[in-house]
Amino acid sequence: MKELIAASLKFQAGKVRVLDQYLLPHQEVWHTCEDVASMQNLINNLQVRGAPLIGLAATLLVAYLAEQGANKQALGEAINALEATRPTAVNLKHCMDTLRQALRQTQYVAAIVHRAEQLFEEDVTLCQRIGEHGVALVDEGDNILTHCNTGALATAGVGTALGVIYTAAQQLSHLHVWVDETRPLLQGGRLTAYELARWQIPYTVLCDNMAAALMAAGKVDKVFVGADRIAANGDFANKVGTYNLAVLAHYHDIPFYVVAPRTTFDATCAHGADIEIEQRSHTEVTGVSGSFGECQWAPENTPVFNPAFDVTPASLVTAWVFDSGIYHEPNFATI
Ligand code: MRU
Repeated sequence: MKELIAASLKFQAGKVRVLDQYLLPHQEVWHTCEDVASMQNLINNLQVRGAPLIGLAATLLVAYLAEQGANKQALGEAINALEATRPTAVNLKHCMDTLRQALRQTQYVAAIVHRAEQLFEEDVTLCQRIGEHGVALVDEGDNILTHCNTGALATAGVGTALGVIYTAAQQLSHLHVWVDETRPLLQGGRLTAYELARWQIPYTVLCDNMAAALMAAGKVDKVFVGADRIAANGDFANKVGTYNLAVLAHYHDIPFYVVAPRTTFDATCAHGADIEIEQRSHTEVTGVSGSFGECQWAPENTPVFNPAFDVTPASLVTAWVFDSGIYHEPNFATI
């Protein structure tokens, strides 16, 4: 396979390498991943995360295993096992379905490698197009609120919602980003803050529960968020807390945009209620852990509700930004 380089995922010198997003921003550690169990762990622990990136990392591993001589059966099992790691982001399913098709070909190794390279490079292009379309929604002086991390770390390209912000910042001189810290795993406070600081885009981190007060004070002009799966009717799943923001934005009459590549659209899913929501460990809510250390604050055996994502209804979305353009209605025929 050819060399492929992104902010948090590489195929280099014949190996799959991932930047550990659990350890960011204080430690920049790259891991080499050579087997399915390691990739499953990396994805489950959110060391590799973000809807497009999960799919691409799993894809590169399958291509690596194919190049290493794994047989058809082993590759089929690898695809199934990797697909089962996280259920909500449809990008992973899309990538694994693509590899399953390649596996049916006689020259399956070449087919898998070719499709892996295509999927990676396609994501770079999709992110770029998203940015080009989305920039039309951003004005000089905007204060934009975003949630979770949807930047270069989460994709092979420049990102989705954060990619729009990055693209806009190249053209406008006065943008400011409000960054939801994004409990419980702090993808905003750790990863989005890390990316915005590197890109030198002015930003301020806030606790998720401060957004209402900020909006009431007139300090938020627009909300841009990403997605893990967009249903045919425009409902979408994204990091838990996104629905809160959509309700708040609606109440305060603030435009609310969802930004994603076509690989996040699931035409087979009629509406949001059909999206499977991943439930995660109680320890993520009873305390906190990361490169900064570990602490549990809740009493032993505290019951916890910890869905990784929530579903926002289409009625709360001002527009959907895809690589094919901006959609003000959930009429996605051209996707
Ligand atoms: O649990 P995570 O960190 O993988 O969740 C990520 C999100 O919810 C992102 O908003 C989404 O995947 C879009 S990334 C371009």
